[in-house]
Amino acid sequence: MTNKKKTSETYSALAEIYDDVMVEVDYETWTDYIDEIIYQYHPEAVAVLELACGTGTMALSLEELSAYDITATDGSVEMIRIAQRKAESVRSDVQFLTRNFLDLRLDQSFDVVFMVFDSLNYLHSEEDIIKLHEEVKQVLNPGGIFVYDFTTPRNSRIAIKFLNNESRRVNNLYRYYRKSSYNAKNREHTNRFKIEKLATESGNVVETFHEEHLQRIYTLPEIENIIKKTEFSILNAFDGFALEPAHEKSLRITMVLQ
Ligand SMILES: C[S@@+](CC[C@H](N)C(=O)[O-])C[C@H]1O[C@@H](n2cnc3c(N)ncnc32)[C@H](O)[C@@H]1O
Repeated sequence: MTNKKKTSETYSALAEIYDDVMVEVDYETWTDYIDEIIYQYHPEAVAVLELACGTGTMALSLEELSAYDITATDGSVEMIRIAQRKAESVRSDVQFLTRNFLDLRLDQSFDVVFMVFDSLNYLHSEEDIIKLHEEVKQVLNPGGIFVYDFTTPRNSRIAIKFLNNESRRVNNLYRYYRKSSYNAKNREHTNRFKIEKLATESGNVVETFHEEHLQRIYTLPEIENIIKKTEFSILNAFDGFALEPAHEKSLRITMVLQ
């Protein structure tokens, strides 16, 4: 059997193994964190929109709290397909839709819009970050909040030490390799994935996919300056998964905007 090689869109080939790659991420704790923020800043919230929801783990976990009506969107058709598959298997009511978060085209409005796990870092320019805020403004109810996180230069410097040269076989059908590099001058964090699909019986490689994920890494003052150019005001900027203020050593910062 020949080994077909392909360069794929980001989060296309990776979608099939995304949940295995992220197996160590504690989405339940993350869900509780988002729920706590909603409780503090908008306790009456019911209609919730998740952006860049990936394979839907957070949305499905949030639904288990039986407190919200949830819509979840992602730009990748393949990630949404997996999310819908998972939703069907647990008879979920979450509505999963494929949407670029720079072009939301939703006819519903929401009390809370949230987005987690570095998804903001997939925006590489100030213009695009402003555009994202404009899109969210269009779908937020009065008094609604917008919650998202981003990762910092310190996080990238530390993360490449353990993400670079990672290699793992997952669910018997795939093997993946990750190379991670950080250009501190341009603040560009690149993750390159090589994903091999394996034949069930022989374990031979039948197809190889390559994906390159480029993230731009921001500091808190940079994000604060960009937010000043939008119609949002900052209610808080939290350190990591805590309800404490972000500081110069924060690895991940969660913004709460209104
Ligand atoms: C690091 S993953 C996070 C996924 C999910 N939030 C999670 O916690 O597992 C980043 C996600 O952002 C999505 N994404 C990147 N750019 C996007 C865009 N312009 N519009 C919508 N989704 C986008 C990708 O498809 C991917 O699912």
